[in-house]
Amino acid sequence: MSTQQLFNIEQELNTFFEKKIPYYKQRYSGVGAPAAYIPELKNTNPDYLACALMFPDGQVILKGDYAVPFTLQSIAKVFIFMTACMHLGTSRVLEWVDVEPTGDPFNSILRFELNENKKPFNPMINAGAITVASLLPGTDSTEKIEKVKLLLSAILDKDVSINEKIFISEWETAYRNRALANFLMENHLLAADVEETLLTYTKLCSIEITAEDLAKIGLVLSIDGFDPIRRIEVIPSSIARFTKILMFTCGMYNYSGKFAAYVGIPGKSGVSGGILGTVPPSFRNHPILSDGCGIGIFSPAIDPCGNSVKGIKLLEDFLHSYSVQIF
Ligand code: DON
Repeated sequence: MSTQQLFNIEQELNTFFEKKIPYYKQRYSGVGAPAAYIPELKNTNPDYLACALMFPDGQVILKGDYAVPFTLQSIAKVFIFMTACMHLGTSRVLEWVDVEPTGDPFNSILRFELNENKKPFNPMINAGAITVASLLPGTDSTEKIEKVKLLLSAILDKDVSINEKIFISEWETAYRNRALANFLMENHLLAADVEETLLTYTKLCSIEITAEDLAKIGLVLSIDGFDPIRRIEVIPSSIARFTKILMFTCGMYNYSGKFAAYVGIPGKSGVSGGILGTVPPSFRNHPILSDGCGIGIFSPAIDPCGNSVKGIKLLEDFLHSYSVQIF
């Protein structure tokens, strides 16, 4: 692509987001609210809205409140799963967790009573991610956490750290996850101690990132684990591809079907208001996005499914405006 074409694309996307971000901030002001069950998240400004895009040639678009850091929350499930698969092999991990969407809320406990001794439905819901966190290699949570941080650092080419305030806030109030972990243990679906596993899982949910980081992760996933800028593989290709399938089918909880239908790309959300999106390269001769890209969205007011209200609207508008759905 010529320099002039690249410049035009950048101009066009800048114009799009400069118009849309203020619009969605205003249109959905007061709709949804930051997650309250983690007390420290409740204090986040609900009006933030950020979007980051990263392209294989290294071009980055950063718009809105992109400088505000936030915690991964459920987006950590993607890295917990990939790390476990990298160390144990995907088939061993799948002996412990299924790959079926639930249609239930992300922290639902319902299925334990209905399906005794049955493995969690998928690694993108709390129960599944807690099981997978128990499989991570290491003798204690410090070692297990380190393995996941190493993967994230390899993708992002920088160190990541845990937001201790948010971790403690969730740790002290993790009643539901404690219940889930205890049910899992009772049903022989945890490979490590209950509290140790919860510590691993909760700390990983509290890793701090930015919309730009999510865009970088989305870009690497879009090219099946390959970093096109440093020209190295950071995630084994088969694991990156399998993870995208799980994101597409289960990444948005009981909104996953609608997200696939109306937004149309693999995505993963967190109750902090982050959305990780990955646009695979397309055979369509699309002027802007045919080479694929990574998308990072952040807006803390969430809906009852736990997904960012303004974030989903902005993403849907963007992907529809440029016909980017994968099918
Ligand atoms: O375990 C929890 O409840 C949180 N740490 C993460 C949940 C979450 O992000 C669900 N997402 N939309």
